[in-house]
Amino acid sequence: MDNTAVPTITLNNGVEIPQVGLGVFQTKEGAEVEQAVGAALEAGYRLIDTAAIYGNEAGVGRAIKASGLPREEIFITTKLWNAHHAYEDALRAFDESLRKLDSGYVDLYLIHWPLPMEGKFVDAWRALEKLYNDKRVRAIGVSNFTPRHLEELLNASETVPTVNQIELHPLFQQKETRAYCAERGIAIESYSPLMQAGEALEHSVIGNLAQKYGKTPAQVILRWHLQSGFIVIPKSARPERIRENLDLFDFELSTDEMRQIDGMDQNRRIGADPDTADFK
Ligand SMILES: NC(=O)c1ccc[n+]([C@@H]2O[C@H](COP(=O)([O-])OP(=O)(O)OC[C@H]3O[C@@H](n4cnc5c(N)ncnc54)[C@H](OP(=O)(O)O)[C@@H]3O)[C@@H](O)[C@H]2O)c1
Repeated sequence: MDNTAVPTITLNNGVEIPQVGLGVFQTKEGAEVEQAVGAALEAGYRLIDTAAIYGNEAGVGRAIKASGLPREEIFITTKLWNAHHAYEDALRAFDESLRKLDSGYVDLYLIHWPLPMEGKFVDAWRALEKLYNDKRVRAIGVSNFTPRHLEELLNASETVPTVNQIELHPLFQQKETRAYCAERGIAIESYSPLMQAGEALEHSVIGNLAQKYGKTPAQVILRWHLQSGFIVIPKSARPERIRENLDLFDFELSTDEMRQIDGMDQNRRIGADPDTADFK
């Protein structure tokens, strides 16, 4: 498809981010990630979401080079891993990510988890601010931050994160964090948007809408994310699903249908809780 059909969102620093991207968590380094990213770029994706801990930044970089697309047409997100919140460590970790991506800059750099028990995310944020001021990243943000973590960050810094990337899907809708971020101009990026192929895909509300529009359950859920104003980064390693997950622009859910999906919230988190997640 023509990638101009993918809408963009303007972040609070003026940078534009495509509203749909490819996630590569659990996509294996080497042929698998290169094929997935290659298929995505071919299909019209221009946003790729990786992280140092995914171990596939080098493959993402190779696939981008192999696509022949100009670097500036592609939006790369990567993330600072939990072991490197100390200021100098964070700067070194960024250099390592950049080396693996084989790129001169990153479009969006995120603190992957807050680790409140360590109390160092403000140090990490200072490092991200330096990278931003040095023009080595076009935007900086956070991931897995609750309003409490954001409050602490905003009390310590003048720089408002551009993005908060959080677990978000119809069974876990994060209304409090969304409201907090909306008030402060922080864009919401939904991770595990398909609940990792979990039971949201089987829900009758989703199934009925899929039948009505002749779309798949995944497409209905992704359309809900888009119409809710989120950036969304579904993961697939299969070219046909990668294409399916971007084929979202020939139907629209009505206000009532959006409300039906809003009504599916069960506060059902499938991933780790940011207040207690301390993995390194
Ligand atoms: N910041 C964080 O802490 C964090 C945490 C988790 C994820 N993320 C990011 O968010 C991205 C997406 O989240 P996720 O990978 O956890 O989960 P997800 O995108 O909700 O689901 C991925 C799963 O759904 C399957 N799938 C994909 N498209 C499908 C379709 N059209 N129909 C049926 N099944 C489909 C995939 O299988 P196949 O690959 O076999 O198609 C895979 O098993 C990640 O890749 C990563 O970039 C960030």
